Amino acid sequence: MPDFSAAPVLVRRARPADAADFVRMMGRPEVYGNLMQLPMPSEEMWRKRLEGQAEPHAVDMHLVAELGGRVVGSAGLHPAPQLRRRHVAMLGISVEPAAQGQGVGSALMQALCSYADGWAQILRIELTVFTDNNRAIRLYERSGFRHEGTHRAYALRDGVFADVHAMARLHPRPPLAAWPAEPAP
Ligand SMILES: CC(C)(COP(=O)(O)OP(=O)(O)OC[C@H]1O[C@@H](n2cnc3c(N)ncnc32)[C@H](O)[C@@H]1OP(=O)(O)O)[C@@H](O)C(=O)NCCC(=O)NCCS
Repeated sequence: MPDFSAAPVLVRRARPADAADFVRMMGRPEVYGNLMQLPMPSEEMWRKRLEGQAEPHAVDMHLVAELGGRVVGSAGLHPAPQLRRRHVAMLGISVEPAAQGQGVGSALMQALCSYADGWAQILRIELTVFTDNNRAIRLYERSGFRHEGTHRAYALRDGVFADVHAMARLHPRPPLAAWPAEPAP
């Protein structure tokens, strides 16, 4: 594994050609086990998902992070489907094991939160995280997420029903419209 210690993190939008990198990252048990993904990810499925975000009016946002020219992490925002929850998006994030602990997750989180806050009309970002995933929980707390509760036996993980925390971040400065005053009739 190359030494990335001095390399800056580049964050950019994911493209369909990154599908093989998603499969490499998501194929690691310590990564898919902590997400809601499954073993043996499909490159075809990832290519289709990444192609989908190029459709006109697509609302999902997938980012990748590169270190030294290699894709080492990804993060996505997926708007809630209900009309009354148009201010809500779900967040997912992962960094390949060899690149963890070097600021890649923080860089991806910062990029997604500023996109959500400044451009996407997202006022609430929500997620679930396994209760023993301390590194992810610390990253979310540092990024302004708060604990909202615990779901018991939420998902099967390697043969065991595991608990998750629900966490969410509300927009720190919800935008206000500065309309010009209407002239009196
Ligand atoms: C959770 C996850 C995304 C964090 O990514 P990461 O790249 O390791 O995160 P960071 O490097 O930004 O932060 C992790 C630690 O490295 C430290 N760090 C080291 N160098 C750093 C740098 N240059 N800049 C910022 N932080 C740095 C941070 O302080 C942080 O310390 P802490 O965990 O003790 O608080 C990653 O561990 C992961 O993908 N895990 C598997 C999948 C997963 O659990 N996803 C979340 C599901 S809810």
